[in-house]
Amino acid sequence: MKYTNVIPLLHLGALALQTAAKDVTEQTKDSFEEKNGYSVTKHEKNINLQANENSIGLKQNMVEANVQSRQKDESCSALDQARRLEVPKAKGTIDAEFEHADFWDEHGDLIKLAWSELSTSNSNETENAAISNLQNIIHPSFYSAVEATHRNPTEANEEVIWSHMKEAGPPGKSQAYKTQLLTDEGLRLLRSELDRATSSGILMRRPNAMNRYGCIIDREVNGAVSLPTLTSLVKTVVSKIGRPLGRMLFADAVGEGDDCEYFAFTIRYNAEEDLELKEHRDASVITLNINLNLPEETYDGSSLYLVDDEKPLDFDVADDYEEERNKRYSISFDPGMMLIHRGSTQHAALPIKEGTRHNLVIWVFGAGGDVRIAPYEKEDWLGVSERWGK
Ligand SMILES: [Fe+2]
Repeated sequence: MKYTNVIPLLHLGALALQTAAKDVTEQTKDSFEEKNGYSVTKHEKNINLQANENSIGLKQNMVEANVQSRQKDESCSALDQARRLEVPKAKGTIDAEFEHADFWDEHGDLIKLAWSELSTSNSNETENAAISNLQNIIHPSFYSAVEATHRNPTEANEEVIWSHMKEAGPPGKSQAYKTQLLTDEGLRLLRSELDRATSSGILMRRPNAMNRYGCIIDREVNGAVSLPTLTSLVKTVVSKIGRPLGRMLFADAVGEGDDCEYFAFTIRYNAEEDLELKEHRDASVITLNINLNLPEETYDGSSLYLVDDEKPLDFDVADDYEEERNKRYSISFDPGMMLIHRGSTQHAALPIKEGTRHNLVIWVFGAGGDVRIAPYEKEDWLGVSERWGK
């Protein structure tokens, strides 16, 4: 079989950027630009927000229509109305970020209200427990090492964290690391909240341009899941662990301001839904990829593989392309395991053979959606206190 080397640049797709540019501003025409002497690429979440601003008049009209509609039937809550919407089925598997965007923009405010109603109809006990008992959610020895380094940011304390990280991907290339992040209790909490979201009947937008099954976890994005336990937990994991860890592991790639925003979503692979993911690079400086399978939920296949850019496949002779793919730097997820990798590292997911794989993915990037590409000179790397926020 001959294979054409077409690699999506971003999860949400270069085409999405181009599509948005037609409707938004000249500023977004190119995915790459030179800014302050650094190479950066715009994150599409920013494009989404710009698109929203551009259509604000239309959106206000829609919100007013929704409000008027609700006033006609005061017994009909936003939650009830959201449950009556018919969700457009996600179909595209490449460059499909803006699939059904009009639908999500039209109903985004109603859906946010529905999440708000659902949240206030339940006690906040779960959310409070999630935040106050982080030590029960994060693997104990890793959590202790992170806490100690926050309290006292020294390279000696960082060494303890390094001891928890195992290099993944091309050896010696510092492209990716893995560690055990979540406890069984943490996994069950996250999965039960995701199950609550799914069983709520509120529609959920596809997670990105390539994966069709899963959801976005965000308070702002139209069509995203906005349950406080999930949004708060994601925020805490990014601020306490993901951001400082990314600065420590990839000091040449992450400077002050390169990691101040994030975009979180879940993905799901099984025989009836998405089977695999094509090679691509993420719209992030660093990516946190956390397996959410419960210990009793086994699956087969669906390994992630990372590509060493210095050793590309020989596509001209790759008649056995599937076999060649399996020779890449393959990573199998254990329940609760986190893979943290550079967004620029090309990667893909092999086909799942049996069962279902659930993962939470968090892209971390810069202000306004910028994704820094150029590496820093060593003398410009952040110091240990800056890495851990002091
Ligand atoms: Fe990815």
